[in-house]
Amino acid sequence: MPLATADLLRELESDATTLALEALMQRICERLAQLPNFNWVGFYMLAEEGGEKVLHLGPFVGAPTPHTRIPLNQGICGAAVSQGKTIVVDDVNSDPRYLACSLETKSEIVAPIRVRGEIVGEIDIDSHTHAVFGPEERQLVERCAELVGRALEKP
Ligand code: SME
Repeated sequence: MPLATADLLRELESDATTLALEALMQRICERLAQLPNFNWVGFYMLAEEGGEKVLHLGPFVGAPTPHTRIPLNQGICGAAVSQGKTIVVDDVNSDPRYLACSLETKSEIVAPIRVRGEIVGEIDIDSHTHAVFGPEERQLVERCAELVGRALEKP
């Protein structure tokens, strides 16, 4: 992992020891959104609505999105929960699942957040550049998802 990414992770790991959950999520959004090509960074968390699970928008940094509530059968966001895995889309306009947030978005990554093995939400990042999310970026985003999962596991 390149030095800058490793440094950022160390910083966020340290934040995770001091910040309360919402503040940690906000900090992750702010710090990742400072990276080149990370244009929208946010969390969606699972909520129950009439016995069905739905994703609700949580803390985010970037342009306001119309998608404040996403059913699990919609979007890249719904797919990441339904399939239980990180989804990377290099060109959102060629993916029929994609729900547009900004016309400028070209690529996206969504990584699930787990608490004791169960998915409870996800971190979602959009880029105005195609194919931004390679192995290094994916590792960074997945580690951020783990930090939030661990914060949620705390009693
Ligand atoms: N693009 C997402 C919707 C959320 S916005 O990008 C913030 C999707 O396809 O699920």
